Amino acid sequence: MEDLKQVAAKAALDFIKPGQLIGIGAGSTIAHLVNFLKEEVTLAKSITLVTSSFSTRQLLLEHDFQVKEISAVSRLDIYFDGCDQFDHQLNALKSGGGIHTREKLLAAMADKFILLGDGSKYVAQLYSTFPVVIEVIPDAVPFVLQQLKKIFSLANPVIRMGSKKDGAVITENGNLLIDTWFRSFPPLDSLNHRLKEIPGILETSLFYNMAHAAIIAGKKGVEIIRKDPAYPI
Ligand code: 5RP
Repeated sequence: MEDLKQVAAKAALDFIKPGQLIGIGAGSTIAHLVNFLKEEVTLAKSITLVTSSFSTRQLLLEHDFQVKEISAVSRLDIYFDGCDQFDHQLNALKSGGGIHTREKLLAAMADKFILLGDGSKYVAQLYSTFPVVIEVIPDAVPFVLQQLKKIFSLANPVIRMGSKKDGAVITENGNLLIDTWFRSFPPLDSLNHRLKEIPGILETSLFYNMAHAAIIAGKKGVEIIRKDPAYPI
């Protein structure tokens, strides 16, 4: 059976032009994109990449791509990333990797932020089967847990624990992650803002109104969804 993540990744190649500064995120779809890029030798040699992901960076270095640190850039031509789920307005949940702070930073600095996914990720409305993940500075964890329960009565916030080492997951920034499970999501248009008003919260995994386009691979082929149909992507 055809791997639809691979199909979406291949379609993303068409958007990359020689000499560009390209950001890429995490996950298997992005790994497919890197593998397709390395086959396009001339294009691959001409571009520079920046990534939010440790694993993607390892893959890029393994294949001799030109890689820049995030701290060395303030603008990208394009940022490509996968997600757990995205809705018809291209709002996305990027909760799985726990690296959403870096992902959001790269998405925000890109002229074009393009989501990649197979059709199963594209839904009318985001489901609360995924948590909203919150990166929190260590000292603020008890306070943030208390505030989350107080402000969102239907929320169940849980510290993300490591699976291959005892203790909580610690982010690249030395912070903790709180998986915030909602029975149903509060209005999405204000959720990010309401969460970030709580002191100690650095960033959330809800990417509201950020993506410019999505490349979706389904059984009937590839579909490009543009946030603004007039936007030249
Ligand atoms: C990390 C993410 C990933 O992009 C997401 O998990 C997609 O992964 P895959 O391409 O393997 O389905 O959001 O935070």
